[in-house]
Amino acid sequence: MAHVLGENAPPKQWMHRRDHKKSQAPLGTRGGEKSCGGVKKLGREKKSLRSWKKGVQDVLTHSSTLVELPQTNPHCDLQFSRAAEEDFEEILSISKDIYGGLDYLPSRYGAWLQDPHRMVILARKQGKVIALQSVCVIDDGQTALVEGLRVAPQERGKGVARVLLKFCSQMVKSRYPSVKVSRLTRDDPLGPRDLQKYQLIAKQGILLFEFQAEKLRQRLADLGSELGTVQMDRPVRLESEELQRLLLNEDVARDILPNGTIVQDWQPFRLLPGNVQMLLQREVDWMADDMLRPTVLSLCSAPFLVPLSLGCHCLTIDIFGRVLEPVQQQVLAHLEHSTHSLTGRVVCQMFLAPPLWELLANFCCGTLGAELVQGYSEQYVVEADLV
Ligand SMILES: CC(C)(COP(=O)(O)OP(=O)(O)OC[C@H]1O[C@@H](n2cnc3c(N)ncnc32)[C@H](O)[C@@H]1OP(=O)(O)O)[C@@H](O)C(=O)NCCC(=O)NCCS
Repeated sequence: MAHVLGENAPPKQWMHRRDHKKSQAPLGTRGGEKSCGGVKKLGREKKSLRSWKKGVQDVLTHSSTLVELPQTNPHCDLQFSRAAEEDFEEILSISKDIYGGLDYLPSRYGAWLQDPHRMVILARKQGKVIALQSVCVIDDGQTALVEGLRVAPQERGKGVARVLLKFCSQMVKSRYPSVKVSRLTRDDPLGPRDLQKYQLIAKQGILLFEFQAEKLRQRLADLGSELGTVQMDRPVRLESEELQRLLLNEDVARDILPNGTIVQDWQPFRLLPGNVQMLLQREVDWMADDMLRPTVLSLCSAPFLVPLSLGCHCLTIDIFGRVLEPVQQQVLAHLEHSTHSLTGRVVCQMFLAPPLWELLANFCCGTLGAELVQGYSEQYVVEADLV
């Protein structure tokens, strides 16, 4: 099991990338540590904490800096650095088959590196990338959103993720003192330890299905003429002004959104003006069943290419609200709109209230002719104090 950084750790040592090759001596005999050899325990711990903080500062300030972990057995052989463009291939090589082939990182990596509110941190072992985590500051500077966490398959189960999470928390604390909590979204069942560590903020069912874009378009067109004579309320597409008003409306936050949180393609946000402004800039199709008093709010994010198969797109639809008919109407409208210019294989991940899962699965597979990719699973938004 990994040790908590800084706790009873022997003196730490930092190394810059340019010094890395020079230093071949075993960790315990390198210069920085030797000089600490005679320091009293208390002084040593203080020094250890200082050098930990310095390492964090180094990674923050110099993108090319490679920082070694303090000698916390068994992870003293880890080094940390900020990710750069040239690390992309190595990151891909540790990311094979994750998220069932729906990894979003390859299509977002470039944008992530450009984002001034985001840090992408790599852990290396003997110079090779073995883990990645990204942290983005949201909620007007109050929250660190943890994303993209992955560890190379051969290194899993050894506590690497835990150490990387801890290192990133230290970086956030140092760079953004206003951040108080860290939040993340996951889809693996939460164990008792997770529930001790995290508070559950929101839970949605995950409906995963796939289709060929051309076939679905045809089916939607046929369905349109079949339904042509039936009187139904059409969903309303929301433009910036209405959307802003709805998202900042207390009734909507209380009645429709879980814990006043909106999730857009795995990213959970509190309904704060800064977040809403950011969401408005994104390529997202927003809908509601009613402009003034909605019971269902839904959003479909722009499709992106995924590694699952060549040319395969992933489409994400987040739905909030529990009334079946408007949900179905909005799903139809989102699919129509978003598959307009798509061809070939599309995997759709739909997040919705758990009681609607089965009904929507029947609708998408039975009525629309899509294929179910997996059975019922859940998405969890969890939060913990930044420690
Ligand atoms: C999930 C994964 C990153 C765990 O890495 P790991 O190095 O094997 O994990 P560790 O040995 O450090 O042990 C688990 C620790 O990671 C944390 N962890 C496990 N899954 C996690 C997840 N999905 N999100 C955040 N933390 C997670 C656990 O809380 C635990 O921390 P704790 O010891 O403080 O309780 C790794 O299995 C992996 O890369 N899987 C494929 C990608 C993936 O599913 N990523 C999850 C993104 S939501």
